[in-house]
Amino acid sequence: AIDTRTLRATSGYITYDDGYGNTGSCSSKITFIDGEKGILRYRGYPIEELAESSTFIEAAYLIIYGELPTRPQLSDFSTRVLTQARIDVGMNNLFEGFPNNSHPMAMLSAMLNTLGCYYPDLASNDRHQDLENFDQAASILLSKVRMLAAMSYRMKEGLPFVYPKPDMGYSQNFLHMMFSNPYDEFIPHDDVTKALDLIFLLHADHEQNCSTSTVRMVASGGANLFASVSAGVCALWGPSHGGANMAVVKMLSEIHADGDDGSRFIEAAKKGEARLMGFGHRVYKNFDPRAKILGEMCERVLKALGRKDPLLDIARHLQDKALSDEYFIKRKLYPNVDFYSGIILKAIGLPLDMFTVIFAIGRMPGWIANWKEIAESSSKIHRPRQIYMGPTKRPYVMMKDR
Ligand code: ACO
Repeated sequence: AIDTRTLRATSGYITYDDGYGNTGSCSSKITFIDGEKGILRYRGYPIEELAESSTFIEAAYLIIYGELPTRPQLSDFSTRVLTQARIDVGMNNLFEGFPNNSHPMAMLSAMLNTLGCYYPDLASNDRHQDLENFDQAASILLSKVRMLAAMSYRMKEGLPFVYPKPDMGYSQNFLHMMFSNPYDEFIPHDDVTKALDLIFLLHADHEQNCSTSTVRMVASGGANLFASVSAGVCALWGPSHGGANMAVVKMLSEIHADGDDGSRFIEAAKKGEARLMGFGHRVYKNFDPRAKILGEMCERVLKALGRKDPLLDIARHLQDKALSDEYFIKRKLYPNVDFYSGIILKAIGLPLDMFTVIFAIGRMPGWIANWKEIAESSSKIHRPRQIYMGPTKRPYVMMKDR
């Protein structure tokens, strides 16, 4: 192990690494990525095998607890998640206080943090106590993130809230909670349920990305699980991170509206006049394995729904152009997970401003597992240094002299 105290005491200088491109902020046993080879594994299991044979809720258990669950463990875990959906009447009232045009990410972050007010014993900021109550807090979060997401949509639509049903799985229940009405239960096509579950599973963890690092940063100060993941939602919101799935569909729609097949856009991106959203990644310098899986799922969902989406044709064309263009090859820019997820979410009927919320539901197991890892460790508070570039010492100027 590296003795950082000795290093600090003897080095006397700071390592400057803009955006932490090459800084290991922690050691972790959760997720492995080899960006050069395009490899992603949760707890050692390849993402392709999990995508083929597992489900989101099973992957969530794996990520949080480190092992694939046995049948009784999975059943117990699923029941715990199912039965935590209830929203306190006080939280309901808070929800109704949001303006109608509120962004669902803002509501989600606020409401997740508010959970700490309704479950003070689970959000004590006493690490020992919060860890003792961890199982309950984790199932509350997995359940309520889905409930709060659906509520934010239905509130805007002026529809009553819908609770999950015991005979439906996690993702089918989410579609039910979004789209069912009292006399008209929404029955999704199996491929649609599978696609949404796959999107959740593929987003479930991704080592030290911006939002997960944020969760760890907040947790390193001793903050409870609810507060830490609420900060993660804020970090996820931006277009360079989770907001990219929205930005991709906006970009594709604009290209379509311009009558472009993607060729003009590629040229603009090469000149730095535009950014090809859903392309490029800090870690992957090869195909993002999640994008490969979702690219195939995209075709399957559109076929199942009997739809053709011109945006998919544009996406394919952009991908072909970029993968054979020197600019993108030299910079190792490949499609990332967001390149195809937005087209699937659009086909399912989700509004654009819910796309990043879907990412947040999917990422919840990773945030929870990373919080647990840091809470159980003896890690110090995270506190990076900086290179100060401001003015040197100068005397205070009195108001009358300014
Ligand atoms: N389109 C065009 N050029 C790009 C793109 C892109 N999408 N991404 C990077 N580049 C270029 C940069 O202009 C830069 O070129 P230069 O060397 O000539 O200056 C070079 O590639 C390196 O780019 P950086 O921005 O330094 O790479 P960084 O690792 O900091 O950024 C990021 C990674 C934020 C993902 C970036 O590629 C990007 O903005 N992509 C589009 C947004 C996106 O899809 N985000 C989702 C990421 S995945 C996720 O969070 C789930």
